[in-house]
Amino acid sequence: MCGIVGYVGDRGSLDVLLGGLGRLEYRGYDSAGVAVLDAEGHLGTRKRAGRLSVLADNLIAEPLPDGATGIGHTRWATHGGPTDGNAHPHLGDDGKLALIHNGIIENFAELKAELLAQGDEFTSETDTEVAALLVGRAYRETGDLTEALRRVVARLEGAFTLLAVHRDQPGVVVGARRNSPLVIGLGEGENFLGSDVAAFVEHTRRFVAIGQDQIVTIRPDSVEISDFDGNAVEGEESEVSWDASAAEKGGWSSFMAKEISEEPEAVRNTLLGRVHDGRVVLPELDGIAEVLAGIDRIVVLGAGTASYSGLLGKYALEEWARIPVEVELAHEFHYRSPVVNERTLIVSISQSGETMDTLLAVREAARLGAKTLSICNTQGATIARESDAVIYTHAGPEVAVASTKAFVAQAVALYLLGLWFAQLRGSVPAERIAGVLDDLSHLPEQFQEVLGVEEQIRTLARWMSDTRAVLFLGRNVGYPVALEGALKLKELAYIHAEGFAAGELKHGPIALIEPGQPVFVVVPSPRGSAKLHSKVVSNIQEIRARGARVIAIAEKGDAAVLPYADEVIPIPLVSPFLEPLLAVAPLQMFALELAAAKGLDVDKPRNLAKSVTVE
Ligand code: F6R
Repeated sequence: MCGIVGYVGDRGSLDVLLGGLGRLEYRGYDSAGVAVLDAEGHLGTRKRAGRLSVLADNLIAEPLPDGATGIGHTRWATHGGPTDGNAHPHLGDDGKLALIHNGIIENFAELKAELLAQGDEFTSETDTEVAALLVGRAYRETGDLTEALRRVVARLEGAFTLLAVHRDQPGVVVGARRNSPLVIGLGEGENFLGSDVAAFVEHTRRFVAIGQDQIVTIRPDSVEISDFDGNAVEGEESEVSWDASAAEKGGWSSFMAKEISEEPEAVRNTLLGRVHDGRVVLPELDGIAEVLAGIDRIVVLGAGTASYSGLLGKYALEEWARIPVEVELAHEFHYRSPVVNERTLIVSISQSGETMDTLLAVREAARLGAKTLSICNTQGATIARESDAVIYTHAGPEVAVASTKAFVAQAVALYLLGLWFAQLRGSVPAERIAGVLDDLSHLPEQFQEVLGVEEQIRTLARWMSDTRAVLFLGRNVGYPVALEGALKLKELAYIHAEGFAAGELKHGPIALIEPGQPVFVVVPSPRGSAKLHSKVVSNIQEIRARGARVIAIAEKGDAAVLPYADEVIPIPLVSPFLEPLLAVAPLQMFALELAAAKGLDVDKPRNLAKSVTVE
């Protein structure tokens, strides 16, 4: 939540800041602002409620004198509504210092009371302004921005990434982070800061991720990192594996449409280099392989879509590895007394690797002695770095707020993990493992075929654009798909949608069925389990008898479904565990098309932000 960019170099920073904010806008889009400092110490700020385009238009109408040092912010409001006044930057030291913030300062009320008592005046309702005023005061005492920030972060509780510039220190941007992300982009004669690499990937692919409780000072020719106590820290340089064009919309109508189209590639890249001679190879696990041999339980943690891919992983891990698996929402795990120990493996799933709920749950599990493995899409993200091991999904950048290709890639990574465990424990014959891996290798082409149902989905979505509620049913591995289909529709089309396990119908949800009620049903292949298939067909008959309008996602040629479905969306014949991956794509497309039919912004649904870095 909230996107942050910082720049020091030898060119105008406004272009860099606006470009970076454009790429980070998925993190929040309530308001945006910039502060720009020139070599003579002129500090200019501009901030506007609304999308980044409002700020950009304003800067064209009333240009701000440019400078080679700057910071920029795009906001997802927490404290104080999305107004011009609450937008960042906030000022301190009588307007000589500008500061931006991502996160929540939990003890801001007592700090604010203290500042008010000392005569400071506030112009916003934000927690951030407290930090700006405090850093301003500390600067007056120290005359050094890095030291001033260091003094202040020692007093802050909660989650924060802070960036600050001061009129008296042109060519310097200082950042600090605790529980919120911050990465440094390394350039030639210029350096960058960003909430993630997307902020500067257009200019450099070299980056250093800043650790927990660290401060960084960037100048055009230097980068200094230290911890909150002032000890120097050596940053580890990495290179982003994708370039700026991967995060461009290209000719697509939306990032979401583009990202769904990239699902075949996401599967391919997640498999890349991890399958040899019919076996799974995960060198990422070498360091903890011995511990993994002794675990007796797996707890999968995630939020939203990531938790649904985790549920899919549970079916696969239990089937292949024969290890008990629980899947839990990270925020629920964190706030009870979870029973985990050194024989428990925590598998956290996160596209961004920065979701606060998941991060805190991982930390809690580690504190209790569990081993932690993350499945993550963003290189160098906090959850990845704080886990004992990480399996990266290599799905490429996901910009649309609604997660799509990440879900598919996460499921593939979990399947690889399940098969890896099966190898380790000898729980599945080698030929069966080789068979599943072979099936997985064909998945990208089959995806391509599924994506071909676009026109059918578009027509359906147009026809359903006035629908007020949609239900989704699935059994077994179809159940997480039903949950995901419902989530996509809620968040994108603002339609009430619920996903149910089809077996649960008669325990309550069937009461919702009335004539005309649209119900998507994920139908398992009759070739996988005839019993499961016939149970789902019975469920379809039950809802049809009560007037439901049934849209079945079923294997091509599944004749048993035809008499009872109003519409069938065909998916290719694949092995049972791969069906959910293909079945989810039409549901993602449906949510996208319905949102588009309602004239909504599919990439930036209301009230949401992509990376939920506050609790
Ligand atoms: C839904 C969606 C969210 C995320 C969730 C976790 O489309 O995008 O439900 O899946 O916020 O995010 P990550 O995977 O970044 O931890």
